[in-house]
Amino acid sequence: MCGIVAAITNRNVSSILIEGLKRLEYRGYDSAGIALLDDNNKLIRVRTKGKVEVLEQELKKQPLSGKIGIAHTRWATHGKPTTINAHPHFSSDRVAIVHNGIIENYKDLQQELKEHGYICTSQTDTEIVAHMLDFFLKQGSDLKQAVQKSVKKIKGAYAIVAMEQNNPHQLIAFKKASPLVIGVGIDENFIASDAPALSIVTNRFIYPADENIIVLDDKSVQIYDKNDKLIKSKIVDYTFDSDPIGKGGFSHYMEKEIFEQPATSEQTLEGRISHDKTTIDISNKIPDEILKQVECCHIVACGTSYHAGMVAKYWLEQYAKIPTSIEVASEYRYRSNIVPKNTLYITISQSGETADSIAALKKAQNESNYLSTLVVCNVEQSTMVREAKYNLITRAGVEVGVASTKAFTTQLLTLSILTASLAKLNNDFNEKEFVESLVQLPLKIQQVLEQKEQINKLSTNFKHTNSMLFLGRLTGYPIALEGALKLKEISYIHAESYPAGELKHGPLALIDESLPTIAVVMFEKNTDKLLSNLEEVKSRGGDVYIFADERLKLTEDTQTKIINIPAIDNMLAPILHIIPLQLLAYYVAVHRGTDIDQPRNLAKSVTVE
Ligand code: G6P
Repeated sequence: MCGIVAAITNRNVSSILIEGLKRLEYRGYDSAGIALLDDNNKLIRVRTKGKVEVLEQELKKQPLSGKIGIAHTRWATHGKPTTINAHPHFSSDRVAIVHNGIIENYKDLQQELKEHGYICTSQTDTEIVAHMLDFFLKQGSDLKQAVQKSVKKIKGAYAIVAMEQNNPHQLIAFKKASPLVIGVGIDENFIASDAPALSIVTNRFIYPADENIIVLDDKSVQIYDKNDKLIKSKIVDYTFDSDPIGKGGFSHYMEKEIFEQPATSEQTLEGRISHDKTTIDISNKIPDEILKQVECCHIVACGTSYHAGMVAKYWLEQYAKIPTSIEVASEYRYRSNIVPKNTLYITISQSGETADSIAALKKAQNESNYLSTLVVCNVEQSTMVREAKYNLITRAGVEVGVASTKAFTTQLLTLSILTASLAKLNNDFNEKEFVESLVQLPLKIQQVLEQKEQINKLSTNFKHTNSMLFLGRLTGYPIALEGALKLKEISYIHAESYPAGELKHGPLALIDESLPTIAVVMFEKNTDKLLSNLEEVKSRGGDVYIFADERLKLTEDTQTKIINIPAIDNMLAPILHIIPLQLLAYYVAVHRGTDIDQPRNLAKSVTVE
């Protein structure tokens, strides 16, 4: 998936597009490009391999100027990240295109176009769109008609923006199951993959529906439906955080975001706890009448959000006594699902734009007999928040680091509140005690963060490690999974996670002095069993690094290092226990000198299947 930004104005759009691209790098950053129509209506472009800053440097050497333009930051799906594969793609030097998503039938279309003399110079699935537009333009269509004819032939989930030499006052765009938002200005208009990309130029947005054709000039925005009927659309005002992309004195966004977690937790709790700090209330977001009917939950998510869902499954069954299943969206969307009576569909997504999660949500809404759908999401303006019946916003603020940290802990916190809201309706849940722990949580997170030097020192042990094992039990298991994910994402060390009881069914064969084991040890009824598993590791020569609840008073020896975690109510322990593992992954990556905020091959928001 990729980031798109386009502008039509009365000033030079070059810097607007570059600023937009910088805010879209979370969608991909392996190559970038920009194309403008200059004052003589000639198409000009610069494309570079690497991040947007490389493109920016190149533009300093060869500046571009024009009042209409399109730009792109890429996450390669078809063809390597090279300059030739970077967008915008041209055809006959008269039409230019940027594209996000996947064109599934591009090979067939390529073949068809070859018969008309069009030869692709790149390995992308995008270039054929430029050629198809040129083909229809040559047949007498205008650019809008050419886009309408082309999208009828294209299969897949994608978004495009096109411009044409002979039509220097219009941008034409189309989206199908892929995000695009229109930014409305005064005598200028914009379009991008998301709203923050346009935060420097406007705070007024239109969210077009799927399969609409969008026609932008500097004075107007026209949106046409599938039947070419002009439709009315609502403008939404949105105020952005003051400086969503500043590092605030930290070396990396990820570091800043880890250290923001006491504050983001407070934000998540705001307005959800009564003034006397005894009760929780989310009834303004999801009514008690719905919660009272819930007899089963299906949780569906991807990546880190999936790990949050795994924790919630343990919680919902233990505290609310509600049978709950958890599944990754890419599996859920393609299999046949059985939906018991009164099942609440819960989807979790930091971005609200993950392609598989959106498709799974649509499937749940269209094909299944769910009681209702609820999204736990960090982005209020996202597709998933607009699609789901109910939403709980996690309020982590903008997260820039690709490896999710504060988005994860605020997801957990929100899910803990949801669990408690269900639990108190269904049985004798001790709400007051839970709220007391909630209130203490930001301070306890702060206490964990204060151990940063100790964790940094520990992390030097892993600078040259090739592989690591993460163990946990019960809610400690998804936390171990998330800790392993953080480490592999940013340090590129192979890491895998097991529920500790599974150790003897295979992974024990891997243990020797070269494989460190990280253990998430909470204060709960199975702690002794987990500690016995760690003894099994040590007796086979493995070193163990235990992140343990302080109440256990564990002691160190030559094979055992301990980091103590403050005591907290059992339900909230997973939120506290992930923090040191985030720090560990971060410091290991610092020592290995990797690209922490933008690790290789990854992207923050995955808008392709
Ligand atoms: C990408 C991100 C992860 C995220 C996952 C799901 O892989 O790098 O951090 O957990 O997508 O994204 P979502 O926005 O749906 O939570």
